[in-house]
Amino acid sequence: MRIKTFEEYQTAYKQSVDDPEGFWAEVAQQFKWRKPWKKVLSWDFNEATTKWYEGGEMNITENALDRHLEEKGNQIAIIWEPNDPGDEAVRITYSVLHDRVCRFANVLKKHGVKKGDRVCIYLPMVPELTVAVLACARIGAVHSVVFGGFSAKSIADRINDSACTMVITSDGAYRGNKVIPMKETVDNALDLCSTVKNVIVMTRTRTPVSMLKGRDLWWEEEVKHVDSVCPAEPMDAEDTLFILYTSGSTGKPKGVVHTCGGYMIFATYTFANVFQYEPGEIHFCTADIGWITGHSYIVYGPLCYGATSVIFEGVPTFPDAGRLWQIVEKHKVNILYTAPTAIRSLMSFGLQYVKDHDLSSLTKLGSVGEPINEEAWQWFKQNIGGSHCPLVDTWWQTETGGIMISPLAGITPEKPTYATLPLPGIQPVLVDESGNVIEGNDVSGNLCIKFPWPGIIRTTYGDHERCKQTYFSTYPGMYFTGDGCLRDEDGYYRITGRVDDVLNVSGHRIGTAEVENAINMHLGVVESAVVGYPHDIKGQGIYAFIITDTKPDDAEMFRKDISATVARIIGPIAKPDKIQFVSGLPKTRSGKIMRRILRKISEHDMNNLGDTSTLLDPAVVEEIKRGAL
Ligand code: WT7
Repeated sequence: MRIKTFEEYQTAYKQSVDDPEGFWAEVAQQFKWRKPWKKVLSWDFNEATTKWYEGGEMNITENALDRHLEEKGNQIAIIWEPNDPGDEAVRITYSVLHDRVCRFANVLKKHGVKKGDRVCIYLPMVPELTVAVLACARIGAVHSVVFGGFSAKSIADRINDSACTMVITSDGAYRGNKVIPMKETVDNALDLCSTVKNVIVMTRTRTPVSMLKGRDLWWEEEVKHVDSVCPAEPMDAEDTLFILYTSGSTGKPKGVVHTCGGYMIFATYTFANVFQYEPGEIHFCTADIGWITGHSYIVYGPLCYGATSVIFEGVPTFPDAGRLWQIVEKHKVNILYTAPTAIRSLMSFGLQYVKDHDLSSLTKLGSVGEPINEEAWQWFKQNIGGSHCPLVDTWWQTETGGIMISPLAGITPEKPTYATLPLPGIQPVLVDESGNVIEGNDVSGNLCIKFPWPGIIRTTYGDHERCKQTYFSTYPGMYFTGDGCLRDEDGYYRITGRVDDVLNVSGHRIGTAEVENAINMHLGVVESAVVGYPHDIKGQGIYAFIITDTKPDDAEMFRKDISATVARIIGPIAKPDKIQFVSGLPKTRSGKIMRRILRKISEHDMNNLGDTSTLLDPAVVEEIKRGAL
């Protein structure tokens, strides 16, 4: 499965394009299947359908756990580093993890969860989160993990969209010096839901919580009374493994559906190759399991490859900005995979925090989530990687299931800020506004993928038409990523950012329409328009232009109230960084808001607003310019 040289990469790439089915069949043969597949691939991008390994029977947990027991039963699968550095880290071997997953799977079964049922998981970064995810997979239940930073309303929307029958949560969560009330948030969400029959509550903070008789159950109590044997449910490769909600350009998050076989193959293959994982290495991905990065590169990829994966409960700046470096030293981390926003934030604290720690265990570095700027790339490479660790900038999306464009660590020649070359099996194309494919090098355009790969999104839950519309209709016959991209003179790719109305704030994907909808729910708000602006640490900040019915008496207080509403509707991650009150918005005669103009104003690029002659009321632009923050 592992490519070892650049020549091998080139050969593999060529084979993957000439004979994709042969290529991916060969990779898949290295996994444990109960029954072989009948057909490697069938696809029709006009209908947004892709099927991999159809008829193949398997269970991803047999690949992530059972398969390793004989040779690696006593190897550490998970190292858990708690929020407080003073608390003991926990090491869980493959055989103990197997045992815990089977037990918890039996708890789910005992409470009526069956193959195909949806289970919402809202937990902090504790080992139980991995156990819960794998326990669902064990019995064929579909997990829908919701990031711990989302509000009750967001949880409820996600539970209702996929009619979850069970929620798994904790009493509270530790994040830095804060205690966050998880169960209470779930309780508030459940006031808006009717499909949930049970809530399993894991004890983390022993915060007082309300436990409803007949509905709520303690995790610790439940696992005492079940058997540790739980045969894995046989799954078709195309049965759903999980749903993960993500934002798009409309107001409503989409449930991205991934299936068992293709996702497993793709997450594992990309993990092994991009990070060039060597047996015994310690892999530390700092993402939260509530995002796709955590699904693929904390849980499924590393475990299916028999690796040791670190789960970190806390935040990079608690108790101080040396926390990540201290974890690297303490657990002798080899591979560190993090986000540009974290790098930029830690850079700003100076080098002292880095120098206090021994980082000599590191062999490879990775970046993900947003375009990485040159300064952050160099700082990470030199000061964290000691200039000798390969640094891979990995481009991919929730919808792609795994890494798509990235160097293979130490194999692909690097170029700062470039995601470099597509992985085997990935056929990127750049397309102009009219849908023409742009050939040659030293060009830029919208990034599409013209051929399926095993990790591709299968549907958006409950609404296949939406999947078709969002990804396969902008450029017929191709998957459209929503990203702008350039291909330089060497054929290297550099992703430049979203070309749709999706923001990337500290690596979190947020739709402008979602934020606008939330703002518009606030008393006194008439209309709003949200754009992203360049932010030193977050990558993008949220800039909201808001029309109110009367001039606010206390503008500062009103801004705070609006932020509170956004936090309540979506979650604190979507709070605007800047709010400007305006008397009108730049609209075309057909009523469309010209965001291009607002974006320029938010960047203070006042002299390049472009053509404003089509505006209904050009005077409004002058007013907005004068009041820009
Ligand atoms: C969007 C996907 C799956 C990774 C975590 C985010 C942006 C992601 C990079 C990168 C430039 C990147 C894109 C993409 N993005 N990685 N290495 N360089 N941009 O997953 O929440 O689904 O967001 O993140 O804009 O479309 P996501």
